[in-house]
Amino acid sequence: MSIVPNALSGWTETPTRVPYSLFFDREIYDLEQEKIFRGPIWSYVALEAEIAKPGDFRATFVGDTPVVVTRGEDGKPHAFVNRCAHRGALVCSEMRGNKKTLECPYHQWSYDLAGRLVGVPFRRGIEGKGGYPKEFRLEEHSLRRLRVDSYGGLVFATFSDEAEPLADYLGPAMTPWIDRLFAKPVRILGYSRQFVNANWKLYAENTRDPYHASLLHLFHTTFGMYRSSQDGGITLDRHGRHDMLRAMRRAEKDELAAFDGSGLRAYAGQYKLADPSLLAGRKEHEGIHIHSLFPGLVIQQIQNTLATRQLLPKAPDKFELVVTHFGYEDDDEEMTAIRLKQANLIGPAGYVSMEDGYAAEIVQQAIVRDAQASSVLEAGGGTIEDQENLVNETAIRGFWRYYRELLTGDARAA
Ligand SMILES: [Fe+2]
Repeated sequence: MSIVPNALSGWTETPTRVPYSLFFDREIYDLEQEKIFRGPIWSYVALEAEIAKPGDFRATFVGDTPVVVTRGEDGKPHAFVNRCAHRGALVCSEMRGNKKTLECPYHQWSYDLAGRLVGVPFRRGIEGKGGYPKEFRLEEHSLRRLRVDSYGGLVFATFSDEAEPLADYLGPAMTPWIDRLFAKPVRILGYSRQFVNANWKLYAENTRDPYHASLLHLFHTTFGMYRSSQDGGITLDRHGRHDMLRAMRRAEKDELAAFDGSGLRAYAGQYKLADPSLLAGRKEHEGIHIHSLFPGLVIQQIQNTLATRQLLPKAPDKFELVVTHFGYEDDDEEMTAIRLKQANLIGPAGYVSMEDGYAAEIVQQAIVRDAQASSVLEAGGGTIEDQENLVNETAIRGFWRYYRELLTGDARAA
């Protein structure tokens, strides 16, 4: 096992303090790539609907390693490292498309949809001169393959032979929530991408944090979308690594009475949307559901808008967020229009989500140098178990406990 950096030594059993060095230390970042993103976990890489036909591909990442996901001629999904076996260039620079083979632009080595090397230009040289030796074998130079599996229309990949079966990794507390949104075939509506100048774990905390949602996001409270006095809570898997956060409307007057009595920021009842159709929507899935699956997948249902969010670390102080908006194949035109309109709530400039990137960045800007200072995670007590309230930091503690287990190799809470 590699040396556990100082930041993790002396960390208490239930993490209620998180040292700031975990958000900017390069050694920690590199250890995460090894122990988490190349460790015994599954990373979400695509929706099945994005690679529906043989030859469809999508370029993405597992941790910070570039990866291509394809649909093979055999109809199965494949994933491999997007790095030519020849001289290390990206084989695939497009984000998505359909091809019979993937060809590296540098020297045109080409690979089939399962990542096998199938073509090398000038292999025999020209007029008997140059080229590769006779004993050079194409089959010894495939792209590095990842294990691939899918659940409910979501495709996952892992570098690890040790990772448990995908359905077990997701676990019985989480799969019903996936089934809920993926009960029928989905249709891709579009993408948004965003670079945030902050550590990826600040965003992993954010989507597990029901406490901030009515405080940071004034749009929520102003237009009655989300209040901490709503019915709701969090459900964890047995490790505390995954989290389903739910918020459901109560009768307006009960919600306001509880909210107003709680000393929270006042409900600004005097404001009205100039275009109320933004939130009008159609009856479908209830409330707001933010489903965080360790390490970097968020599946969101906010009223009628559905999306996966991929959290991709780029550097200790930089991550990318890739949002894939989707609806269902059987949506009528009006429903698609509703989903797209409500998509304005999320993404880089979303009426709600915009502040989350901002929140991560103002933490990153403030924690410089003070490696041993720490954040405080005490809301909801020190426990890591399901909650039926929206004023807790329980799922964030669950994230950190499992994070520490992976980094230290200590599986005491398993
Ligand atoms: Fe938020």
